[in-house]
Order: sequence, then structure tokens, then C-alpha cells
Amino acid sequence: MNIQALKVTVPIIGVVVLAYLIFSPSRYVGYAPTQPLPFNHKIHAGDNKMDCRYCHTSVETSAHASVPPTATCMNCHTNVATTQKDVKWLTKQYDGEKTTGNSIEGKGRPVRWIKVHDQPDFVYFNHSRHISRGVDCSKCHGNVAEMVKVKQVESLNMGYCVNCHRENNAPNDCSTCHR
Ligand code: HEC
Ligand code: HEC
Ligand code: HEC
Ligand code: HEC
Ligand code: HEC
Repeated sequence: MNIQALKVTVPIIGVVVLAYLIFSPSRYVGYAPTQPLPFNHKIHAGDNKMDCRYCHTSVETSAHASVPPTATCMNCHTNVATTQKDVKWLTKQYDGEKTTGNSIEGKGRPVRWIKVHDQPDFVYFNHSRHISRGVDCSKCHGNVAEMVKVKQVESLNMGYCVNCHRENNAPNDCSTCHR
């Protein structure tokens, strides 16, 4: 292929690829994996009005929103709903009781929560930058406080990110999200 042909085809391929990235449907909307323990956001963040940040402590200060350690749950569940079967299971994990057959004696075992929203490694995302600009959790995660089981409701694909950046005058060059 000669240089002239490349000069024509490369930009065309570029445009097609970009259009595909922006308009292709998301593979992840509706994804709601079954967790090791059915944690219910509606009971906690909805009915009991707990602040998201009580559990997702690092969402304002770092790229990642942390998922709480079992110790956070036990602040309440040493007293609350102690006879409920999932709370019993949680307590056993925390205490590292031998009889669960699943935990190391005398040592607590963290709950292995399964990630719901997951960006590919080549995408850089940062929570704190969004939270400090007043973007609400629900913009990207839907109304989690009403969810019995968390599921992904927005595509969070490139088009979704880029559109909102355009509307809000946020940086949109490729290196913002791919570094
Ligand atoms: C600030 C207190 C508080 C914290 C912290 C807390 N919970 Fe709860 N949890 C509650 C209350 C209140 C209920 C409702 C109890 C009831 O209805 O009897 C509840 C209920 C539950 C139930 C029973 C749900 C059902 O269907 O009846 C489970 C399981 C549970 N919580 C798990 C967790 C886990 C896991 C964590 C940590 C990630 C956690 N909780 C942290 C207060 C708390
Ligand atoms: C009592 C603790 C607690 C509170 C309060 C809480 N969460 Fe969570 N959250 C969890 C736990 C535990 C998980 C992991 C299990 C799951 O995905 O259901 C989780 C998972 C999530 C996820 C999915 C994470 C992933 O893997 O992609 C999102 C999004 C989320 N929470 C948002 C919120 C929002 C928004 C609020 C406030 C409206 C909130 N949470 C309040 C404990 C909490
Ligand atoms: C601008 C969109 C956006 C906003 C606003 C947002 N999130 Fe997220 N959230 C994401 C994306 C994208 C991921 C997946 C990140 C990854 O895989 O690296 C994610 C992942 C998470 C996770 C899983 C842990 C992690 O960091 O990967 C939790 C928990 C979470 N978000 C909670 C929250 C809470 C709580 C708020 C509000 C205080 C919030 N998010 C606001 C887009 C957003
Ligand atoms: C609801 C609107 C909205 C959505 C959706 C959104 N962003 Fe943003 N983003 C913003 C705003 C506003 C800023 C803040 C710019 C600033 O601080 O000046 C920002 C900032 C950023 C920054 C920091 C830029 C820098 O220079 O440090 C990154 C990285 C980023 N966003 C990535 C993403 C990714 C990846 C997604 C999709 C998963 C996404 N954003 C979705 C509105 C959004
Ligand atoms: C505001 C954030 C943001 C900006 C700016 C951005 N991207 Fe992306 N890009 C993403 C996200 C998020 C994905 C992952 C989509 C997915 O697979 O869910 C992605 C995916 C990609 C992929 C991989 C596609 C695939 O399906 O695996 C390529 C290639 C890419 N982007 C190129 C670019 C180029 C070139 C630019 C500049 C013109 C750019 N991106 C600007 C957020 C961004």
C-alpha cells in the first residue's frame, strides 16, 4: 500500500472506530452478580438513611470508593438482627469460627464481595474528582438507596463518559481517561 492510500484510509478507520466506541451498546447494563451475602442497600441506605460514605469511606478522597471491611458491619451487627441467618454467617466469618469450615480458626475472614462496576485497566477513572465537583452517585450508579441488590444501570462506556464531560466542560482529550 502506498503512503497516499494510507493517508486516506487511516483517518477513515479512526472515525469508524471512534463512532463504534461512542455508540456501541453496553455489555454491562443490568449486571447484578450474586454476592457471598445478600447485602441490602435499601434496608441500610434507604430505610435507615445511612450515608453512603459511612461504608464507602474513600470515595471523596481517592480514585476508588472502598467497600467496607466486616468490622464496619459489626459496629451494628454485634447487637442488631443477631438472629437473622445472614448476620449469623457474617458474624462467624468475622470471628473466624472453626465450624464454618470456611474460615481460619481465630482469624476473621473478609467477605469476598464481587465487583459490580468494573472498568478495563486501560481506563483511568477517579471518584474524588467527580464527587468534589458535586456529581451525585446516582448519576452513574442509579438510585442505590432503593436497590435490594446492586446492579449496573448506566452503560459507563466511553460515550457515556465523553458526553457528560462535553456538557460540563470537563477535559476530553484521550489522555484524560487513557494514560
Ligand atoms: C449503622 C448500623 C448498621 C451497619 C453499619 C450495618 N447494618 Fe446491616 N442492618 C442494620 C439494620 C438496622 C438492619 C435491619 C434490622 C431489622 O430489620 O431487624 C440491618 C439488617 C441487615 C441484614 C438482614 C437483612 C434482612 O433481609 O433482614 C443483613 C444481612 C445485614 N444487615 C448485613 C450488613 C452488612 C454486610 C453490613 C456491612 C457491610 C451491615 N449490615 C452494616 C444496621 C446496620
Ligand atoms: C452499611 C454499609 C453500606 C452503605 C451505607 C452503602 N453501601 Fe454501597 N456497598 C456496601 C457493600 C457491602 C457493597 C458490596 C456488596 C454489593 O455489591 O452489594 C456495596 C456495593 C456498592 C456498589 C457496587 C460496587 C461495585 O462493586 O461496583 C455501589 C455502586 C454502591 N455500593 C453505592 C452506594 C451508594 C450510592 C450508597 C448510598 C446511597 C451506598 N452504597 C451505601 C455497603 C454499603
Ligand atoms: C461519574 C461517575 C460516577 C460517580 C458520580 C460515582 N461513581 Fe462509583 N463507580 C464509577 C465507575 C466507573 C466505577 C468502576 C471503577 C473501576 O472499575 O475502576 C465505580 C465503582 C464504584 C464502587 C466499587 C469500588 C471501586 O471504586 O471500584 C463503589 C463502591 C462506588 N463506585 C460507589 C460510589 C459512591 C458511594 C458514589 C457517590 C459518593 C459514587 N460511586 C459515584 C462511576 C461513578
Ligand atoms: C455526570 C457527568 C460525568 C460523567 C458521567 C463522567 N464524568 Fe468524569 N468528570 C466530570 C466532571 C464535572 C469532572 C471534573 C473536571 C474538573 O475537576 O474540572 C470530571 C473529571 C474527570 C477526570 C479527571 C480529569 C483530570 O484532569 O484530572 C477523569 C479522569 C474522569 N472524569 C474520567 C471519567 C470516566 C472514565 C468516566 C466514565 C466512566 C467519567 N469521567 C464520567 C463529569 C462526568
Ligand atoms: C472521559 C473519558 C474518556 C475519554 C476522554 C476517552 N475515552 Fe476511550 N474509553 C473510555 C472508557 C470508559 C472506555 C471503556 C469502554 C468499555 O469497554 O466499557 C474506553 C475505551 C476505549 C478504547 C477501547 C475500546 C474497546 O472496546 O475495548 C479505545 C481504543 C479508546 N477508548 C480510545 C480513545 C481515544 C482515541 C480517545 C480520544 C479521542 C478516547 N478514548 C477518549 C473513556 C474515555
